[in-house]
Amino acid sequence: MIKIKSLISEKIYGLVKSINAEADISVQDIASMLEYPPDSNMGDLAFPCFKLSKALRRSPVQIAATIAESLGGEEIESAEAVNGYLNIKISDKYLCENILPEILDKKENYGAPTYLGEGKTVVLDYSSPNVAKPFHIGHLGTTVIGHALKKLHEFAGYKCVGINYLGDWGTQFGKLIVAYKLWGDKAQIEEGGIDKLVELYVRINNTIKGDEENGIPAREDLADNARAEFRKMEDGDEENIALWKWFVEISLKEYEKTYKQLGIEFDSYKGESFYTDKMPAQVEKIRECGLMKIDDGASIVELEEYGMPPCLILKRDGSTLYPTRDIAAAVYRKEHYNFDKAIYVTSTQQILHFKQWFKVVELMGYDWHDQLVHVPYGTVSLNGAKLATRTGNVVLLKDLFAQAIEKVKIIMEEKNPDLKGRDDIAEAVGVGAVVFYYLTNNRIKDINFNLEDALSFDGNTGPYVQYTYARACSVLEKVGEIESPAEFVITAREEAALVKAMAQYEEKVLTAIRDYEPSVITRFILDVAVAFNKFYHECKIATAEDETVRATRIKLTEAAKYVLGSAFSLICLKKTERI
Ligand code: ARG
Repeated sequence: MIKIKSLISEKIYGLVKSINAEADISVQDIASMLEYPPDSNMGDLAFPCFKLSKALRRSPVQIAATIAESLGGEEIESAEAVNGYLNIKISDKYLCENILPEILDKKENYGAPTYLGEGKTVVLDYSSPNVAKPFHIGHLGTTVIGHALKKLHEFAGYKCVGINYLGDWGTQFGKLIVAYKLWGDKAQIEEGGIDKLVELYVRINNTIKGDEENGIPAREDLADNARAEFRKMEDGDEENIALWKWFVEISLKEYEKTYKQLGIEFDSYKGESFYTDKMPAQVEKIRECGLMKIDDGASIVELEEYGMPPCLILKRDGSTLYPTRDIAAAVYRKEHYNFDKAIYVTSTQQILHFKQWFKVVELMGYDWHDQLVHVPYGTVSLNGAKLATRTGNVVLLKDLFAQAIEKVKIIMEEKNPDLKGRDDIAEAVGVGAVVFYYLTNNRIKDINFNLEDALSFDGNTGPYVQYTYARACSVLEKVGEIESPAEFVITAREEAALVKAMAQYEEKVLTAIRDYEPSVITRFILDVAVAFNKFYHECKIATAEDETVRATRIKLTEAAKYVLGSAFSLICLKKTERI
């Protein structure tokens, strides 16, 4: 639609200029005023003329009437003036002749705005779980929003670097080492993996806390031991470093299973530990810039002037903090990748953290501070579906996926008992349902997760759109490969509606990137799926009598398969050829 919109904008511009050659208005202004009407019966595009009233010194009604009278061309079916609005209907024939061949030619690359990112690099920091702490549903957001943003930027021609900034350094390892030395069993951990580590972690935390109600005293001494073990780690103690490496390895193995289910791969796993030796130089620079203040023994950067509490750089004992590491990591990434944009995806709870250290980077004089982007998302809670909660009262991401997959298997057994490759398909649909449900919401909103709703085959869900994709594949499989007809012929409203839905792909991609909002794509997928299903139900495809009509419909089905498939891969949704 972008091309059609700009064609029409130019025509309107010409007419506006002919009303008043002096009017201070550009083609871009006109293009940005063109809207999609809420109800497609009103037309495909609407132009609100009141916005030109002042510049043209005429009433909106007059302007609309004048433009409607003269606006014409093969791409326009009709232009009507209604209450100061210009309602424009695009010619189905024109749309079909222009959009359909382009989709069939570019296949899954249709709609890719590669001009946007050409020659540019984006670094994306996402997922980034804290080793030895549970990888829970709170991480769903950063993992799938982060990956979707990576895919979107790739689609738009950017070179992308996906970084899993593992929380692989910190006092939690001191705790884990203490716990392991007290209660750990090597063989059990080898066998049980991360669950056993989390168990140890939860147990040590509970032991340190004690249980006042039941008369179990707190064990502050263990917290001291943990700090001591971590300090030993920082000093390079061999035994502790070996344990730490082992813990990280075990955790990674587990995370990778989840990433594989989602089809996610990272380009770098450089976690917090990697930056240990890169912090002193930045701490020094902060000092040199005269930014450092000592407050009760700790080193801080005052940010009162900017309406924020101080950013903590060093604790009283000289140890570094989360912001210190982020600053060092950003400098390293800038030097290493020379990014044009560095995106960080975390929950809204970290908004202040990012604002603070972004400001410190600016005050340090790094001119690329404005290339740092924080993309926050709301919290996820669970409701309805009862999910097994393990240790620590959190729902693990892998358990959520496992339950979704199990439920899909049960549904499939009823619906399609002979399906081949059922396990893989159930995994794709179960995981896809969770992802899709999650990504239907604006990222900033808190969401209440309901597994039953997510898994429904006839709501606005992952299973529904994956089923639609499989339906298109099955039509195409039945008819076999065919050539495009010499001319496409559109005879039904549903066909035109499907083309129009698909034609918006590029604009949706641009909006999703501009707003860092994958839900724009999720909703686009729903629009196309709904349009495809209406078309499928109303129009005979393989059995259409007229040869050209049949060929057009088959090619339309093929186009829908490409567009859906392409959009699926932007949001971590697997393409299911059969369900
Ligand atoms: N590991 C952190 C957490 O789980 C998230 C890290 C986000 N990335 C960053 N560069 N701070 O809360």
